[in-house]
Amino acid sequence: MGENLIIFNARIATPHGHSARKGSEMSELHVIENGTVEVTDGIITYVGVARGNERAGYHRGFYQYDANGRCLLPGFVDSHTHFVFGGERSEEFSWRLKGDSYMSIMERGGGIASTVKATRKQSFVELRNRGKKFLKKMTTMGITTVEGKSGYGLDKETELLQLEVMASLNSDEHKAIDIISTYLGAHALPKEYAGRGDEYIEYIIAEVLPEVKRRELASCCDIFCEKGVFSVEQSRRLLTAAKEMGFSLKLHADEIVTLGGAELAAELGALSADHLLHASDDGIRDMAATNVVATLLPLTAFSLKEPYARARDMINAGCAVALATDLNPGSCFSGSVPLTIALACIYMGLSVEEAITAFTLNGAAALGRADKIGSIEVGKQGDMILLNSSKYEVLPYYVGMNCVEVTIKGGILYINEE
Ligand code: NIG
Ligand code: FE
Repeated sequence: MGENLIIFNARIATPHGHSARKGSEMSELHVIENGTVEVTDGIITYVGVARGNERAGYHRGFYQYDANGRCLLPGFVDSHTHFVFGGERSEEFSWRLKGDSYMSIMERGGGIASTVKATRKQSFVELRNRGKKFLKKMTTMGITTVEGKSGYGLDKETELLQLEVMASLNSDEHKAIDIISTYLGAHALPKEYAGRGDEYIEYIIAEVLPEVKRRELASCCDIFCEKGVFSVEQSRRLLTAAKEMGFSLKLHADEIVTLGGAELAAELGALSADHLLHASDDGIRDMAATNVVATLLPLTAFSLKEPYARARDMINAGCAVALATDLNPGSCFSGSVPLTIALACIYMGLSVEEAITAFTLNGAAALGRADKIGSIEVGKQGDMILLNSSKYEVLPYYVGMNCVEVTIKGGILYINEE
């Protein structure tokens, strides 16, 4: 449910469409000077030039808000995060500063396994309170929909607990953010299944996925398809079974080495392949030829000191690129939207227009929601942000600093007090 709201005197800039924008379409933003947007019961009912009867305050059943010429964009959609977890891994971060690699720490039993240990000790309330704090920060940065993954329990009980926490946060009456949950039980091999990867995959398929489905705790299924974690064959097995049960598919693909994760995502019709630092030319071609969204996570490449994904090659090849934060306790302990955008524009060669499409409509498509969110169009949810300027060019210019002044969720205004 949302409110009845009219925002007027805004410079509206938005991509258009009900599916991901691919290749050169990503730079096509529609701009309306002196624009008005009307939201009725949380849904956008008018977008266009001023109608002439706008007036600040409560009139005709609408709260009418003067944007004073500021730029109005769709709310950001962060389509890849791991925001429900226990513990922290700052010590590992310091080992990496001294030359250790992410995978060598994982091979020694640290990494994801260390967060699993900490998460298994947490209660529902502890996980929920911490998750809620992250959600609050996300709202101030303009995120109106976030994806959250399980994957720090690995055992059935804790995986379900993580998903229950997200379901509970998502059912808050006064929530400012929608949560789309993803089951990532295949995030790492739990110690209980050491050396028995195939058996763990079969266990998930038989014991956990049906329960997640029955209780509608997640709409997507994801896997860490990586050398030394889960193979392409194991990923195909799990994701094929998940697809048959009605899950949408996502993959952590080609993050550390080139393995064929992007190709597999295309083969299976996944919503997205994520990371892709080492995606092959064939993988890029396959994603462009299908509707797989290439979800890029520059904060992770930055934090791991790895080369950025080849965003320009992907867009030039006709891919739909999305940007997301990857907030997690290990490879990327940051959920900074402004820094993500700055890195994407400075180091990955995205234009500001492409970055906006990547963080709005293409993020929505990476969650299978492009028909409902991701752009300012009649019929979509009233999820928008007002910047502190009439120019959307401030987004990468504010390196790591927030230029979002107002976040609007379903027609409700959240003024950023920072
Ligand atoms: O997206 N690469 C795998 N998963 C996460 C990191 C998880 C962790 O290190 O805790 C990622 O980078
Ligand atoms: Fe991730």
